[in-house]
Amino acid sequence: MKSSNNFIAFLLIFYYWIRGMLLFFVPKSLRFKSVKDRLVLITGGGSGLGRALAIRFAKRGAHVVVWDVNKSGLEETVELVKGANPDVKVKSYVCDITDRHLVYETAAKVKRDVSAVDILVNNAGVVNGKNLMDIPDEKIVQTFQVNAISHFWTVKAVLPDMMARDSGHIVSIASVAGSTGSCQLTDYCASKFAAVGFEESLRFELLNANLLGVKSTVVLPYFINTGMFAGFKSPILPALEPDYVADQIMAGILTDAEHVAVPRICYTLNTLKTILPTKAFYKLYEVLGGYEVMEDFVGRDGAKHNNNYINNNNRKVK
Ligand SMILES: NC(=O)c1ccc[n+]([C@@H]2O[C@H](COP(=O)([O-])OP(=O)(O)OC[C@H]3O[C@@H](n4cnc5c(N)ncnc54)[C@H](O)[C@@H]3O)[C@@H](O)[C@H]2O)c1
Repeated sequence: MKSSNNFIAFLLIFYYWIRGMLLFFVPKSLRFKSVKDRLVLITGGGSGLGRALAIRFAKRGAHVVVWDVNKSGLEETVELVKGANPDVKVKSYVCDITDRHLVYETAAKVKRDVSAVDILVNNAGVVNGKNLMDIPDEKIVQTFQVNAISHFWTVKAVLPDMMARDSGHIVSIASVAGSTGSCQLTDYCASKFAAVGFEESLRFELLNANLLGVKSTVVLPYFINTGMFAGFKSPILPALEPDYVADQIMAGILTDAEHVAVPRICYTLNTLKTILPTKAFYKLYEVLGGYEVMEDFVGRDGAKHNNNYINNNNRKVK
């Protein structure tokens, strides 16, 4: 009995593999699901990618709730969403997602003011952009709290309603930094690996509970010109425009894709790490400008970050 089950499982693996390859040739737009009249909650919706996604959801008829610590950014997003589609509801809440009590309280307010959340986009993020020894301890904790730990609170706040209906979608905006480590990004990469691990484990839990109607998507973008990574250098792969990335993310969400890497070449990163000898991967990292990418990083505060503890250009990797 067990061996016939295993045989069916292998057939299904093969079926999903072939199906995945065939779907590659079908335009995604033909497979888009409707989000009309759904409620989408976007964290970090006061700027960048969060704002671009809010506008796109509204254009598709979804009601939008945005959370952020940046009040004026939220107000701007609300105006832009209203301009994009005056027929949808839009509300903003100042909410520091590192405070779990505030997350639960604000989520309850959203439910009272608007409705239960149908789509949650965990998008808020921060970056320090310094070598490990230069990052103050509390900044490391904050990076984890915003980029990863907050996902536990936001998901716990909205998942019960999704489970009750067996319908919903959890989206995690991670990063290509959740697939590979990089200089001056120890805390950022580790927090993004954590976000990827959280989302992947949650997906297995949903499958195990047969909650097939609750979807999840993890997004791994390369550098984007939003200002978060201001000053970074991108010698080989050009930095991405926020509108392009937002379109790719929307296409992924609307087709219930589990993984969205932007650009597509970033899908190969994990494979390369597995098939290449480690030293060859280091060389590839060097050739792609990995060591230089964060050298002139200034980030959102516009200040050049000195690296006091580690001499950056002292490597002798053979
Ligand atoms: N910009 C890039 O190059 C890049 C690349 C890959 C992934 N990402 C990820 O995409 C997401 C969006 O980034 P972005 O480029 O739009 O940056 P952004 O700085 O424009 O947006 C991040 C938002 O998160 C908000 N935020 C920060 N801490 C918060 C907190 N404690 N509570 C609530 N909100 C908080 C900020 O105020 C800001 O509005 C982030 O998770 C980021 O890590 C960005």
